[in-house]
Amino acid sequence: MTTMAELTRRGIIGIVKVKHPPVNALSYGVRKGITECMKKAESDPAIQAVVLCGDGRTFPAGADISEFGGKFAEGPDLRSVLVTIENLRKPVVAAIHGTALGGGLEVALSCHYRLMHTTARTGFPEVALGILPAATGTQRFPRVTHLANAIEMITSGRHITAKEAHSKGIVDKLVSGDIIQEGVTFANDIASKPYRHLMVSTKPVIGAENAQQIFDEARKRLASRAVGGPIAPMMCLKAIEGAVKMPTFEKGIQHEADLMYLLMTSGQARAQQYAFFAERAVSKWELPDGATNSRNTKPKAVKTAAVIGAGTMGTGIAMTLLSRGIPTILIEQDQKFLDRGVAAIGKLIAYQVNKKRISNEQAQKLHTLLKPSLHYADLKDVDIVIEAVFENMDIKKTVFRKMDALCKPSAILASNTSNLNIDEMATVTKRPGSVIGMHFFAPANVMRLLENIRGRQTSGETIATVMDLSKRIGKVGVLVGNCYGFVGNRMLHMYGAEASFLIEEGCLPHEVDQCIKVFGFPMGFFQVADLSGLDIGYKARKGLGLIGKGLPERFRFGQRYSPISDIMVENGRLGQKSGKGYYNYGKIGGRVPERDPETEELILNFCKKHNIQRRRIAPQEVMERCLYPLINEGFKILQEKIATKDEEIDTIWMTGYGWPRHTGGPMYYARNFVGLPKIYERLLYYKAQFPDSKHWEPCELLRKEAMQQAKL
Ligand code: 3HC
Ligand code: NAI
Repeated sequence: MTTMAELTRRGIIGIVKVKHPPVNALSYGVRKGITECMKKAESDPAIQAVVLCGDGRTFPAGADISEFGGKFAEGPDLRSVLVTIENLRKPVVAAIHGTALGGGLEVALSCHYRLMHTTARTGFPEVALGILPAATGTQRFPRVTHLANAIEMITSGRHITAKEAHSKGIVDKLVSGDIIQEGVTFANDIASKPYRHLMVSTKPVIGAENAQQIFDEARKRLASRAVGGPIAPMMCLKAIEGAVKMPTFEKGIQHEADLMYLLMTSGQARAQQYAFFAERAVSKWELPDGATNSRNTKPKAVKTAAVIGAGTMGTGIAMTLLSRGIPTILIEQDQKFLDRGVAAIGKLIAYQVNKKRISNEQAQKLHTLLKPSLHYADLKDVDIVIEAVFENMDIKKTVFRKMDALCKPSAILASNTSNLNIDEMATVTKRPGSVIGMHFFAPANVMRLLENIRGRQTSGETIATVMDLSKRIGKVGVLVGNCYGFVGNRMLHMYGAEASFLIEEGCLPHEVDQCIKVFGFPMGFFQVADLSGLDIGYKARKGLGLIGKGLPERFRFGQRYSPISDIMVENGRLGQKSGKGYYNYGKIGGRVPERDPETEELILNFCKKHNIQRRRIAPQEVMERCLYPLINEGFKILQEKIATKDEEIDTIWMTGYGWPRHTGGPMYYARNFVGLPKIYERLLYYKAQFPDSKHWEPCELLRKEAMQQAKL
């Protein structure tokens, strides 16, 4: 194993530089390297103080997550590295730039002084990986910053700016020049003064006098989110408690290590670490034939963009592009709608200013980057156009014809459709290779997922450009194939259908939603449906011919159909936008869902009309019926090569649909928490119970893999 740190000298200052691109993760070679360099610096009489820093773009951004692998990493552990640094007989200055995260911050806390570049960020993201800062972070951190801050940061995983870190006492000084030179200047200054050894481990916990109250409040806050949630936040809190309650620092460290062991061996930590790598794996796309991929295809430059349609999605998409400095033309068909869209963007910008996320000058810049227009001719110079007009194929085709006629030949034409056929839109253009789907999620300026849909003829260059643009605008771009609903909505349709059947058979909406929330989703299916608006699905079903006179109410196109959602819409219950849907919200746009006797009456009347004997349905059945058809559909999607790997499906569900990260997404959950043989067996069980629902038919790929897993 090569050593991944080097020691050099500038005058009386030793510089220990970590060299492990891209993020200087603290893998075995780094830990070994730091230890060796520190010992050399200690024994070199020419060195009087040491600067510890990272090469390239960052100070160490944490432990090497790929070393975790379900067990503790091999080699000198990080804690012993920290002991070496803290006990060094010469002062050590951490010179932080980039991101000092997790283990990186723990390293900095073992140093005697901390300098931070004004552009750097820091934090303890361990909780998002299902673990805790186990290299003494939970013990040292409340000794440099107030206990309440330490709890908030460690249990949330929030990254903070240099300015905040300084105001919270985490770093001693902010600098804005070359980080190594600043470190050397600071170290020279220290070396010239009488020696003071500042060991964080020997300091008292800040705010310990009010510890009980602080812990009680934090426990209450975390408990409110604990049902169905991950266990790591509460374990982080328990570990920090050790800093106050354990008699010595060493006992606190042991307590921290015991809790870390529990977390590390839990299925949740493994799932959350899988989620971390899955999110990165999706950027490495490839076409199903394997020939064209992210490694061999170059993106085109995107300097300007246009969005067509200034409604809910169009304004959010425009805001996203503007926020990343991309000049954007917003096209509408009518002045009234254009004005409404521009006002909506103005509100989004003002919100950012109010939240102090951007300055007034930056807000002004965003306004100047936006060009509202009623003229398609203004599209002539843009590099990409994203249409977000009504979800109707005829309208979309008309818009694609116009875009094709007016845009320059190299421009990419994208659609934000949530379900419709990208290939059909491409047929009306002379550039099918430049046509692609870019399915943003509402609210588009907030949601991180961007499902990019490749049509049959979409070129590698178009895909590379859109995947690159996704990252640039802060989205997690996932490339998928073209089919009705793509990956996310196609799987959602299965879940939605079963959720509706369950309320026909005996559940009430809040009962189904409660089970889903206990599983870990932030909202149940019916709450989400109310939030999105029930009329959207209604219009889509109408477009598909699923709604109309003469159709049997509970059976359409050869399979069981639930008209419950249609009944809601036909009774004026569109969701939050009309103040009532499955739930009552008190007023139009209200957000707090209350059970509604009117909804329940509509459901019971429907059952009476069809002589349905309602029954008590156990939570286990609710869970299995909501999740297993969705998982089965995921396997079908893999089988049809609409997705090329589990990570794509899992990332879509975790970033776009609220699937709980501590179970790793539907595919990971099926394989690792439930087991494919069990899923397969339950699909067969429900298939026998509900022969009129085709979605219980196990997919061939799932059957095969279940058989293989059963043999192991
Ligand atoms: N371990 C291993 N690999 C890591 C890593 C880590 N801690 N952090 C990043 N990487 C890898 C990524 O997988 C990616 O690899 P790839 O190119 O092969 O896909 C590569 O480094 C670049 O990462 P990003 O694409 O994420 O780069 P960005 O510039 O977008 O983001 C970052 C940089 C903010 C540092 C981000 O990578 C990040 O958040 N990393 C994780 C930080 C973290 O969670 N640290 C805590 C680790 S746990 C810990 O320290 C435990 C300790 O308490 C004992
Ligand atoms: P919306 O009804 O809020 O906005 C559509 C806008 O397009 C309207 O302002 C309308 O005036 C304008 N428009 C219609 N025809 C036009 C034309 N020929 N030229 C210029 N402008 C035209 O619709 P919404 O919700 O924004 O949806 C837009 C698209 O985004 C649809 O395809 C929808 O399926 C998709 N989508 C919607 C999501 C949602 O939650 N609302 C989520 C993801 C995708």
